[in-house]
Amino acid sequence: MKRWADKLQAIQPFHVMEVLQRVKELQTEGKDVVRLEVGEPEFATPPKVLQAAHAAIEQDLTRYTPSLGIPALRQKISQWYEQCHGVQVDPGRIIITPGASGAFLLAFGILLDERDRVAFSDPGYPCYPNMIRLLGGEPVAVPVEADDNYQLSPKKLDGVDNLRGVLITSPANPTGSLMSGESMAELSQWCRKRGIHRISDEIYQGITYTQKACSLLEFDDDAIVINGFSKFFAMTGWRLGWLIVPADAVRSVEILSQNLFIAASTLSQYAALAVFDEVDRLRQQVLCYDQNRQVLLAGLRELGFRIPVEPAGAFYIYADVKPLLDRLAIPSADELCHRLLEEALVAITPGRDFGQFRASEHVRLSYATDLERIQEGLRRMAQFLAKVG
Ligand SMILES: Cc1ncc(COP(=O)(O)O)c(C=O)c1O
Repeated sequence: MKRWADKLQAIQPFHVMEVLQRVKELQTEGKDVVRLEVGEPEFATPPKVLQAAHAAIEQDLTRYTPSLGIPALRQKISQWYEQCHGVQVDPGRIIITPGASGAFLLAFGILLDERDRVAFSDPGYPCYPNMIRLLGGEPVAVPVEADDNYQLSPKKLDGVDNLRGVLITSPANPTGSLMSGESMAELSQWCRKRGIHRISDEIYQGITYTQKACSLLEFDDDAIVINGFSKFFAMTGWRLGWLIVPADAVRSVEILSQNLFIAASTLSQYAALAVFDEVDRLRQQVLCYDQNRQVLLAGLRELGFRIPVEPAGAFYIYADVKPLLDRLAIPSADELCHRLLEEALVAITPGRDFGQFRASEHVRLSYATDLERIQEGLRRMAQFLAKVG
């Protein structure tokens, strides 16, 4: 008798977890590792959020909330869209979820029947194909390169048949690329003409450097939009996100939410009410990321990393290391990451965590850390490259 589901064979681990494991071991040995692999802000939760959480505990706000979330938070998020994107979103269409990850489960849950196909970009966020597969759908990874600004477009999707959904991410992980409003509108129209659903992961919204990121809702009121409190709002561990769906999907989302989670964390929801009063502080943090971004970009380029598309959002740089690998006779980006960790005590993420397309020639570096640590990381990488080359 088989013990666990066959479909688990197709669910990939996060390879960066192996890097994380090794980082922990090195740290336990007392080694100082520069960590450029992490995907979360180093900034602490804003103080007003902590105060609101304490107040919620004192008021014993510890029972389940409605499955769709507390009305006050859904209202605040609706106002946020009005303020940031000039769009009116009925709070009734906003569902509070356990992280953006929970929102994905609900979105794919209401969308996918067996073998329904959803396209997304490769490189892209690694959980997409795994969640689509788990829910019975078929992930369709579409290779994108620097010339495509690492984003999907009608041109890229031409010839990709039988799609149920197209998933876009802007700003993107791992490339930090932004999709312009024009491109969003064009892609949305292309999909609508063909009866294809549009899903937009906007979790890095607010963390942008050259221009504001658009929300797909500005062009497409019928799209499914996912966002959350983990990135710009710096609340990763509170596990809180949201999902926006067309009005006729709300009841189905509610039923799924009741069955899958009952509701998002009550304390986190009350705490998050206060985060909208901390927006000035959060915007300051984005200025710090920008400084980090510029230093890391210049430093990496000097070291021979190729970065054809400057990241305009999120806090990652996706670098082509093919020229470096050739020069140093290192066979793959995996091996480079391994050696940088062991020999230079710098942790970065290998490209294969983000897909298959030219993955062994790319790495991702995160700059959601202190500037001083980034400078130290660059120094160590320079020493390593001088030693090996
Ligand atoms: C593109 C993207 N979407 C979604 C998530 C998940 O976010 P959450 O912490 O809200 O579940 C991440 C986390 O790194 C991400 O990079």
